[in-house]
Amino acid sequence: MVWPETTKHVAQIMKYADENGIPVVPRGAGTGMSGGAVPLGGSMVLSMEKMNRLLELDTGNLTVLVEPGIINGRLQREVEEHGFFYPPDPASMNFCTIGGNVAENAGGPRALKYGVTRDYVMQIEAVLPGGDIVNLGVRTHKGVVGYDIVRLLVGSEGTLAVATKIRLKLLPLPEDVVTLLCLFTDLEAAGMAVSRIVSAKIVPRTLEFMDREAIKAVEKFNPLGLADDVEALLLIEVDGHAETIKKEAGKVADICMKLGADARMAEDDAARNRLWECRRRVSPSLYHLCPRKMSEDIVVPRDMIPQMLTSLRRISEDTGVRLVNYGHAGDGNIHVNLMVDRTDEEEYKKADAAVREIFKVTLGLGGTISGEHGVGITKAPYIGMEVKQRELGLMKGIKNLFDPKNILNPGKIFP
Ligand code: MLT
Ligand code: ZN
Repeated sequence: MVWPETTKHVAQIMKYADENGIPVVPRGAGTGMSGGAVPLGGSMVLSMEKMNRLLELDTGNLTVLVEPGIINGRLQREVEEHGFFYPPDPASMNFCTIGGNVAENAGGPRALKYGVTRDYVMQIEAVLPGGDIVNLGVRTHKGVVGYDIVRLLVGSEGTLAVATKIRLKLLPLPEDVVTLLCLFTDLEAAGMAVSRIVSAKIVPRTLEFMDREAIKAVEKFNPLGLADDVEALLLIEVDGHAETIKKEAGKVADICMKLGADARMAEDDAARNRLWECRRRVSPSLYHLCPRKMSEDIVVPRDMIPQMLTSLRRISEDTGVRLVNYGHAGDGNIHVNLMVDRTDEEEYKKADAAVREIFKVTLGLGGTISGEHGVGITKAPYIGMEVKQRELGLMKGIKNLFDPKNILNPGKIFP
């Protein structure tokens, strides 16, 4: 394991690895959900945690230049002190790094209104396998000179280059936020509320969903005191000018109540933070209950959510695999958790059959098998279900162009 402190260190390490045929696995905080940062046998781990500085806050142009090891939450707090806003907020934001977010094109609840990491990356300084340092992208708002390699690197899961500096776009901090907790006694009604809210031409900044099992798991460790008959909840946030969002929040609450929900508004920052803390605890709580669970990350067009939820229930009954569902319903992004012991051969066989059926239904509805967690190791066996031969060939060609010796994060993405 190596801990570079400068771009020059990274370049020296990459050159050494290239000359000696040592595979290199770049690593941020290791919070990824598909195993992208997991070193396979014989690899050198390139930890970016010491390159964690905020280098420049460019207030005139609303950008910030950072090193990859900076923690997402720290970046958010630092820019917010100056009235700026960095929206991507993965659930692990208090410990994941921006470099990891860039590698995985991380999303998060606020992606619904504000987009994902890729929408904020303007420039990347990176080291290529072999040690060359390249500067990609522009610091201006516009720029169309040549191919957009920045966009290609974001989400490439550490397989093409190692980012050493990243310039991100910022927004002005929204004036105000209203947070609503809507509790449903009917699962499909919660799914229907999602498309009704968006059809009403309201784009909340978050529209999060948790099913009964997910609620029960969090209640065990962080009790909110929710009633036993709650089948699903939506955590909805609108932001902007105080007057406008008051009206929008009222409309959202009406839509949910017409579908039978009990709608409550967070009274202050403490109540809001508490709700979000519970939401961010879903994944860790499920790991506590089932340490070897499998965690999926499907996305369907948002109006297909009720249909997808019904299919998930059917698949669970057919295969006998317990499923827990939650996630970014506004994006159509559901984290389907298979509560199995994946190291148990019998259980894995059943779970694999369930995963294949889940992916088949997802793709049939016009969706994708991963919205924000990437392919890494865990989804590599399934990539062919979504990406066809010719397209996979293009991707492999790009990998080969950047990394002809297959030094950088080998064994990831491609089966
Ligand atoms: C989340 O939304 O909580 C994260 O993506 C992590 C997870 O899927 O469990
Ligand atoms: Zn998520």
